[in-house]
Amino acid sequence: MTRVTPFVKWAGGKGQLLAQFEAHLPVRFEAYVEPFVGGGALFFHLYNQGLLDGKRAVLIDQLEELINCYRVVQGQVEELIAELQRHEPYKTDADHYYTVRAWDRRPDYAQRSDVERAARFIFLNRTCYNGLYRVNRRGQFNVPFGRYRNPKVCDVQNLQAASRALQDVTLIVGDFDRCLEVATGADLVYLDPPYHPLSSTANFTSYTSAGFGLEDQRRLARVFEALDRRGCQVMLSNSDTPFVQGLYEGYEQTEFQAIRPISSKGDGRGAISELLITNGYRKVQSG
Ligand SMILES: C[S@@+](CC[C@H](N)C(=O)[O-])C[C@H]1O[C@@H](n2cnc3c(N)ncnc32)[C@H](O)[C@@H]1O
Repeated sequence: MTRVTPFVKWAGGKGQLLAQFEAHLPVRFEAYVEPFVGGGALFFHLYNQGLLDGKRAVLIDQLEELINCYRVVQGQVEELIAELQRHEPYKTDADHYYTVRAWDRRPDYAQRSDVERAARFIFLNRTCYNGLYRVNRRGQFNVPFGRYRNPKVCDVQNLQAASRALQDVTLIVGDFDRCLEVATGADLVYLDPPYHPLSSTANFTSYTSAGFGLEDQRRLARVFEALDRRGCQVMLSNSDTPFVQGLYEGYEQTEFQAIRPISSKGDGRGAISELLITNGYRKVQSG
């Protein structure tokens, strides 16, 4: 079976932490629910290991353009591949990049097909600066061209494998609290929100024009508690700050080291401590 990896590069992607998370997975779970799916690193990792076989999975993200991509990968992957192959010859051409980037500034953008929008999203994600996703107040994508020598725009095998992984998955555009409509006892819910900033300037938390503030972090902690009361097995990652430690006081908190951009411009990298918070279920590896 082909190993599937995320089909978008995503800020805060959990790829590098998967090995460390492994020991903290529950011994057994029913459905898998991921309310801040982003690139879906943990979802694809569990799929690759056969841990989702025969299970219900629900992936949620507030970003409509991202969930549109997941839906197109799920249901129209060959059309998507054909459309991406039309962009491929221009992947080092800044003019083409800025022309495609400007689509969402035109009134006819809404008439573009789902496949065209998904191909645009993946093309821009692969060729923009650092794979960032950032929009202005009007919701228009505004990340500059990335100047990569040979970015991979159309990875046919991986897209086809991702499509198979997504076949029976429920995809929802919405706020993380929608997980309360779908998660029931013994399900595994993995919450990976935009992180609470380590300092007021140091962090990138704005995936959408709305941002994710302290009140959202508190609301999320209440959702965590509600899932806990229901008997769900909940894993949550966040930055290691006193505010986060306080929000989840009483739950198990494990420190992880991750390599992240550290300067406000995102051009320096360093190891920082992050937290994985869990609610006392039986783990694959205890201790
Ligand atoms: C840290 S990223 C998740 C990264 C993901 N775990 C991965 O491996 O790529 C956070 C995600 O939350 C989404 N998001 C932000 N606010 C949200 C909200 N209120 N409800 C649901 N999703 C939200 C963003 O669009 C982004 O994709």
